[in-house]
Amino acid sequence: MITLTDIAYVRSGVADLDTATRFATEIVGLELASPTEIGVAHLRADHRHHCLALVEGPSGVISSGFSVADSDALAAAETELERSGIAVRRGSAAAARSRRVREFIAFDDPFGNRLALVSQQETVARPVSFTRPAGITEFGHLCLDAPDVHEAYRFWSTRFNARVSDWIGDSACLLRIDPVHHKLAVFRADEPGLCHVNFQVASIDDVFRSWHFLVEHGVEIEMGPGRHPQSTAIFLYFLGPEGFTYEYSFGVRRIEDDAGWIPRTFDPREPGSIDMWLGPVRRVCSQAQLKPETIAGRAS
Ligand SMILES: [Fe+2]
Repeated sequence: MITLTDIAYVRSGVADLDTATRFATEIVGLELASPTEIGVAHLRADHRHHCLALVEGPSGVISSGFSVADSDALAAAETELERSGIAVRRGSAAAARSRRVREFIAFDDPFGNRLALVSQQETVARPVSFTRPAGITEFGHLCLDAPDVHEAYRFWSTRFNARVSDWIGDSACLLRIDPVHHKLAVFRADEPGLCHVNFQVASIDDVFRSWHFLVEHGVEIEMGPGRHPQSTAIFLYFLGPEGFTYEYSFGVRRIEDDAGWIPRTFDPREPGSIDMWLGPVRRVCSQAQLKPETIAGRAS
């Protein structure tokens, strides 16, 4: 069993780095870390050096990273994955540097989502210099796509410490690796990809202030403001460049009684199962996973 201690980052390929970076900073509000690499923009939301790296090149998700405790845990994970027939690749020193981790391994889930396990992701001590006061408190969760969420659940729950918090029928599986209701979710889609990344904000006022801000700036609101009955979070989904969906949310449920929590199943066709406030509901845009051959040809 591999213990994930946290989510670490998302690495996303963008054809137009300037536009994607401007959106991540001026619209989403993230801090742009001082550039250290040509063609890579590191975006910061909390103590992590970055939680989003935009990499100039073909458009699409490069990888989604998760932390493990230390080098020993990483080596044990590598052995365990290889033993179960999963092809694992060790990241080079230069690639680890670009990710601001000491070491990492990369592999694919059964659907073709590229995952990374990292050890010693860099923490930055100074407060985040947000580009815009969106009220972001942390990188909240990431959501992957898979054609079968039950199969995805088996992958995450048998190899990793992920536990299901709730199901949305056959459409989504919401998973926790700590008391937060979900730090990982898998949504049903034909192809692998990244459904969205979430940033927690400090208050309901931040969600609504951002809603007006986004509308004023011509950003496409995909869903919300609304409230998810599963996590109780008040949400707002909006579309960034190159099919990348961002979410702000406030008030996510914490499951402190881990053993006592019984996952529930919500029928997505039932009114209120996605948005308790009964707003219009739609499947948000996903960014497709880049194919391995495309990733292999890139710097880091
Ligand atoms: Fe979400």
